[in-house]
Amino acid sequence: MSQLRQRTIHPGPSSSSPSSSSSSESESGDFDITTFAESKKNTHQESATIYDEESNGITLADIIRVLVTLTVALCGLSYYMTLSESWFWGYRPWFTKLPVVMRYLRGPLYLTPEQLSLYNGTDSSLPLYVAVNGTIFDVSANRGIYGPGGSYNFFAGRDATRAFVTGCFKEDLTPDLDGVEEMFIPVDDVDVADGSENLTSREKKLRLEQEVRAAKAQVRKKVQHWHDFFHSHKKYFEIGKIIGVPPKAPDQPKRELCEGAKRSRPKRGKATSEGNH
Ligand code: HEM
Repeated sequence: MSQLRQRTIHPGPSSSSPSSSSSSESESGDFDITTFAESKKNTHQESATIYDEESNGITLADIIRVLVTLTVALCGLSYYMTLSESWFWGYRPWFTKLPVVMRYLRGPLYLTPEQLSLYNGTDSSLPLYVAVNGTIFDVSANRGIYGPGGSYNFFAGRDATRAFVTGCFKEDLTPDLDGVEEMFIPVDDVDVADGSENLTSREKKLRLEQEVRAAKAQVRKKVQHWHDFFHSHKKYFEIGKIIGVPPKAPDQPKRELCEGAKRSRPKRGKATSEGNH
């Protein structure tokens, strides 16, 4: 009876094996207390092992395995859904772009205007570079636009910041921004009476100073806009700076405003135009 109770309470190989069950009883039929204690100890160890396994059912390795599987599956799905365009649902961190990583490892590139001019697409083995206000960007991803025959090929291989501001793509392919703010300074409209005729010359001078300040701010804004456009473009990336540009001689005359920019000057009293892009 004691043997039966022992089996029921602590099932296990030691208690269920015929040999152990026979050894737990003496030949006279008495219960062997030593064997019982051993069997109880074994059973406790066993149940402790089972308990440990149950409590650690999900291990760290399992979690990592699930996360890795999910990540790989999501990346695969993104690749499939975006028609092989992106592994990250359209998001492309810079370290996934090999040319960007290579540039990062090699450090920034410093080119003179002459060296930069080689990267205008005439040599198809070279990348295409565009510069805005001294900063060079790699735009090779868009050869259709910046390469030979492209609608904006004239921007390749040079810093044409002035043209970015004025939109004069023939005359203003230069980084020289001197006097360009004039295009944002209102001109007097002879047909419209705006009260100017009542101003003293001092008041007119003060007004002009204000307008020049506002116009210079607009130029900075335009330049910044194009810098940011190339900088944050998902296909272009910054590669370095232009060096070796001689400073403008003080006696050099101000560059004349191109015809297109002259025409686009705002009329006094009317809202200023912000351009197309
Ligand atoms: C200040 C004046 C302007 C500047 C600085 C400028 C600059 C640019 C630049 C840099 C691009 C290339 C964008 C890229 O890399 O994806 C571009 C594209 C384009 N721009 Fe302008 N743009 C100006 C005015 C205009 C105007 C007035 C028009 C229309 C009449 C125009 C029509 C276009 C078109 C259609 C494209 C796409 C080109 C293509 O896919 O081949 N832009 N513009």
